[in-house]
Formats: sequence, C-alpha cells, structure tokens
Amino acid sequence: VKYTIVDKETCIACGACGVTCPSIFDYDDEGLAFVLIDDNTGTKEIREELEDDVLDAYEGCPSDSIKISEDPFHGDPLKFE
Ligand code: F3S
Repeated sequence: VKYTIVDKETCIACGACGVTCPSIFDYDDEGLAFVLIDDNTGTKEIREELEDDVLDAYEGCPSDSIKISEDPFHGDPLKFE
C-alpha cells in the first residue's frame, strides 16, 4: 500500500474509514470521504506506519470505495480497474 483514493461516486458516507484511519481519511460537507494528505488525488505516498490502518479501512469499507495501489492514481479512483 503506497497510495489510496476514495471513489466519491460510490462512497455511501458510512463514516467508517475516518474512524479507522483519521490521519488519512476525512469527510466533506456531505459526509463523503476523501484522502486528506493529497486532496483525494491518490498521489502522495502513505507513511509506512499508517499502511496497516489504511488496509483496515480498505477492507472495512462497505461499498468498496477505498482504492489502494503501489502506484499513484493521479486523481482517477478507477485507474487500475
Ligand atoms: Fe465512504 Fe467507505 Fe469511508 S463508504 S465514508 S469510503 S468507509
């Protein structure tokens, strides 16, 4: 896990990710999640000590809206699908 991004099209604002990993995930005014560290572009490398939490958030998202990759997303959550 090096990069992460939220697909806001499918996020259902369940609120789990920000609880699991508050230094990476936050919510906008509508409660939709986004990645704090790079304004949800998936371009900034996640610090190693946060990788496990990001993985937990990824696995816990009920709508599979959290994407993870070894390569940057450049703003496109579906880049590797
Ligand atoms: Fe949305 Fe999934 Fe987080 S539904 S609020 S991205 S856990």
